[in-house]
Amino acid sequence: MPAMATQATIRQRFEAEFPNARKIFAQAQEVFPQGVTHDLRYLEPFPIYIDRAEGAYKWDVDGHRFIDFWSGHGSILLGHSHPEVVGAVQKQVARGTHLGACHELEIEWGRWVQKLMPSAEKVRFVSSGTEATLMALRLSRLFTGRSKVLKFAGHFHGWHDYLVPAADPPYEGASIPGLPAEVAGFTVVVPPNDADAVDRALASDPDIGCVILEPTGGHFGAVPIRGPFLHALRDLTRKHGRLLIFDEVISGFRVHPGGAQGLYGITPDLTTLAKILAGGLPGGCLAGRADILASLEFRPGKPKMKHPGTFNANPLSAAAGCATLRLVATGEPVRHASEMGKLLRQRLNRLFEEKGCDWVAYGEFSGWKLLPGYRGPRPTGDDFVPYSGALDKLDGPKNPALTHAFRQAMLLNGVDLAGLGGMTTAAHVESDIDRAIAAFSNALDLLREEALA
Ligand SMILES: Cc1ncc(COP(=O)(O)O)c(C=O)c1O
Repeated sequence: MPAMATQATIRQRFEAEFPNARKIFAQAQEVFPQGVTHDLRYLEPFPIYIDRAEGAYKWDVDGHRFIDFWSGHGSILLGHSHPEVVGAVQKQVARGTHLGACHELEIEWGRWVQKLMPSAEKVRFVSSGTEATLMALRLSRLFTGRSKVLKFAGHFHGWHDYLVPAADPPYEGASIPGLPAEVAGFTVVVPPNDADAVDRALASDPDIGCVILEPTGGHFGAVPIRGPFLHALRDLTRKHGRLLIFDEVISGFRVHPGGAQGLYGITPDLTTLAKILAGGLPGGCLAGRADILASLEFRPGKPKMKHPGTFNANPLSAAAGCATLRLVATGEPVRHASEMGKLLRQRLNRLFEEKGCDWVAYGEFSGWKLLPGYRGPRPTGDDFVPYSGALDKLDGPKNPALTHAFRQAMLLNGVDLAGLGGMTTAAHVESDIDRAIAAFSNALDLLREEALA
């Protein structure tokens, strides 16, 4: 007698649907720790392998097309392989990938930053967001003579020693593997949106030289931050004579052509940028007050911050960055990506209600987040923030079984995303949102079969 057919689990379906990825992953495990090159690309039982990407889509080695909401970890605003970016990079690649010299494109790239970012009196290019925030802290120490930094729980600024503490839960009392306690002692952590805590910390600790934050909220708005708190920070840092650093690696050129600073009309002392800055290629920069960046200059009798960097202002990144920022300056890519983000959030919340599902979607601009197991009033408008922004509820520990199963279920339905959320781009159109909503509906059904939703 044939065995009784049982319903395949999400994992079984995933394994059956992505056989080539499984084979490639076996090779990757021989090369990379756990087979991956970025923590967030790790997926059980194996990740997907993407072959190419264009516009709002990417295609994998198993013949699937996905609507992409991961958007190059946020570095893609115009859509993948935008023709103007491709053309600019092709033109440059034939003229040299590394000129080992100053070049004119770097000036044009820097001028776009100056034009768009209100705080950018001067600019210095680096190769990543992590490098940009590292540079911001070193320059801050040189300028203020104070060694510590104040940051907010749940804010991510890259993986270097001084800002990796409290990037992820648990936020209190957790030691970071590989980070000496002495080094961790240079980082003071306070809860987001708590101006009194900032005031107290700055008043009581003269060693704090600067305050850094993701100006629209940690992890691109998991706990949203809005204009009034940013204005309060600007006032407090001025009152106490400390520097204010906006880490706009992800919000820069995405929430407004001028980043959060352009949107809210606040000028920080320093700004870190990457991702969209380099149009989907590697690149970052520190921008800000000329008197602070002056410590990068060779000046007789004055201390200088050493700053080499083989790929600083790389011409390919400069070409992609200039092509991208030229379009960003029109305002249209940001407007459209944000409109698609809003539409997706609205439709998701409608879907959750229709299905009687206790999930909620929230977010701002082109970002969207999902909160499973939500207990509270349903959203009535797009400025909705669940649980009044409580950190432990919005950015607490995740359930890895759920996040893995959810991503697998979404991939099975032709959508890729970043954990429990993602970003829209200027390439997404309404029909992508419609198709994504159908995929969410199917994925939730699959999760329900396993009592995960
Ligand atoms: C706000 C923020 N700062 C810094 C970084 C680090 O940038 P990178 O990955 O280029 O080092 C990121 C990366 O996601 C980020 O979102």
